[in-house]
Amino acid sequence: MRKPIIAGNWKMNKTPDEAMALIGELKPLVADAKAEVVVCPPYACLAAAAQALAGSNIGLGAQNMDYHDSGAYTGEVSADMLKALGVEYVIIGHSERRQYYAETDATVNLKVKKALATGLVPILCVGEMLEEREQGITAEIVRMQTKLALLDVSAADVAKVVIAYEPVWAIGTGKTATSDDANDTIKTIRQAVRELYGDKAEEVRIQYGGSMNPKNVGELMAMSDIDGGLIGGASLKAEDFSKVVNY
Ligand code: 13P
Repeated sequence: MRKPIIAGNWKMNKTPDEAMALIGELKPLVADAKAEVVVCPPYACLAAAAQALAGSNIGLGAQNMDYHDSGAYTGEVSADMLKALGVEYVIIGHSERRQYYAETDATVNLKVKKALATGLVPILCVGEMLEEREQGITAEIVRMQTKLALLDVSAADVAKVVIAYEPVWAIGTGKTATSDDANDTIKTIRQAVRELYGDKAEEVRIQYGGSMNPKNVGELMAMSDIDGGLIGGASLKAEDFSKVVNY
């Protein structure tokens, strides 16, 4: 069956020294985790984090990347550069990138394909905004985001993709989707994948993200279709993150 995957998205937090200290604290606390464990520090901390993580059971992820191979793209970072640093996962299409940096379904799709072609595991984020939820179009939004992100992704590759369902109104707000609601929307996402890839959809891991923490992780992870979490705030403290990982 699907192996649970818990990833910490540190967002724009921690210097390299702070990253090494946090990883140093975290390693012994999650050494026996049943879940796959990933941390996604900012670009500037990746080299230090790779060093600190060596020999541990914690994988390294980035929070974004560009889809071009190389060239005149000031400020951007390529998939090959991440790979060379020892990065194995990359968050793509986080709602903060979509909201603040004009990321579109089209660029998300290009990045998913580039990540797969480079041997990185894409953690593809989808999720509705509050007004979309209030308008009753959550299912339409996540179906559309999912299908557009997977355009031209092969059936052989799709099972490598991790999808993170993050309702935008639940991010950093302390508001969590109820476990039933989150599970229902994740089923909707899996159904969209099934429409494209048939039974391969059963292999795709779909995380929940949005104010997931040591208190609510147990209930969320007990649901049939929730295969892990993408954790923001609670991933910045070793004790909290380890409690989520060891749910
Ligand atoms: P919080 O856990 O801080 O709500 O953030 C969730 C998130 O955006 C993870 O990518």
